[in-house]
Amino acid sequence: MGTFAVTGSASGMGAASAAALRDAGHTVIGVDLRDADVVADLGTADGRRHAVEEVLALSGGTLDGVAAVAGVGPAMKDAGAVMSINYFGPVALLDGLRPALERSGAGRAVVIGSNSASTVPMVDEELARLALAGDEDAARERARAAQAALPPEIAGDAPSISAYATSKFALARWVRRTAVTPEWARRGILLNAIAPGAVLTPLMLGSTGDAADHDPDEFPTPMPLGVFGRPEDIAFWVHQFLRPEARFTTGAILYVDGGTDAAMRPDAQ
Ligand code: NAI
Repeated sequence: MGTFAVTGSASGMGAASAAALRDAGHTVIGVDLRDADVVADLGTADGRRHAVEEVLALSGGTLDGVAAVAGVGPAMKDAGAVMSINYFGPVALLDGLRPALERSGAGRAVVIGSNSASTVPMVDEELARLALAGDEDAARERARAAQAALPPEIAGDAPSISAYATSKFALARWVRRTAVTPEWARRGILLNAIAPGAVLTPLMLGSTGDAADHDPDEFPTPMPLGVFGRPEDIAFWVHQFLRPEARFTTGAILYVDGGTDAAMRPDAQ
């Protein structure tokens, strides 16, 4: 049985992923802002350092897999914080835990992106460039400037929509670039991303927390299957990517979105 770290383990997809791994008999080290083995704020450099140190201490320095699930949505008020949590958090955590994955001999890592990276027409390429260059201060500043320029009808419900989509776009690009570097690929560590669509979690349900308030056929993006996802639908694939038997897939982005991306971009591959 293996040892796995899961961020965002206190809620939604992260909680479902931790449960799937525990049900399979593995040891899970949960990381979250609350109710976790490691309580840490992945939106700050200090919090990320603390998370890496604690996970290394609890795992004894060897990890079979990491699932970087923690994140926030477009309703977050501070677009700068969205970049810090959704992009810089998982990247720093995975960089910090890479040696522990290498020690297992068959390390696996999976990150949760979003189909917003391909379906929201507000991805900011320059913001993605700043993120991929590792310039967190400049990325936060640019994200906040874009937020201030949003028309009020968008800023009301989704003040961080551009930063959100861009954080996930940059994260997917980081996964594809990083997975094929010798430090990952030639050390036997596989790195992939899942791009969920609308999934019924506290993040999506918002203030009412009531699934009955949401109708797949009224959703702003198409939902071909006519249903929203459940956290378990994502956890299933998290578990598959983390299995040692998943030996020949790296740098992949898997859409788990009920068909939204295919409906919006049928000819993209
Ligand atoms: P959720 O809100 O149920 O769970 C997210 C977890 O991340 C929470 O436990 C929260 O405390 C934790 N978290 C947030 N900020 C953190 C920080 N600074 N440090 C440490 N932990 C932090 O949301 P859900 O839906 O399960 O989200 C999981 C991932 O899926 C996120 O990355 C989100 O962006 C992504 N996603 C969600 C979609 C949805 O429709 N629910 C769609 C596409 C992507």
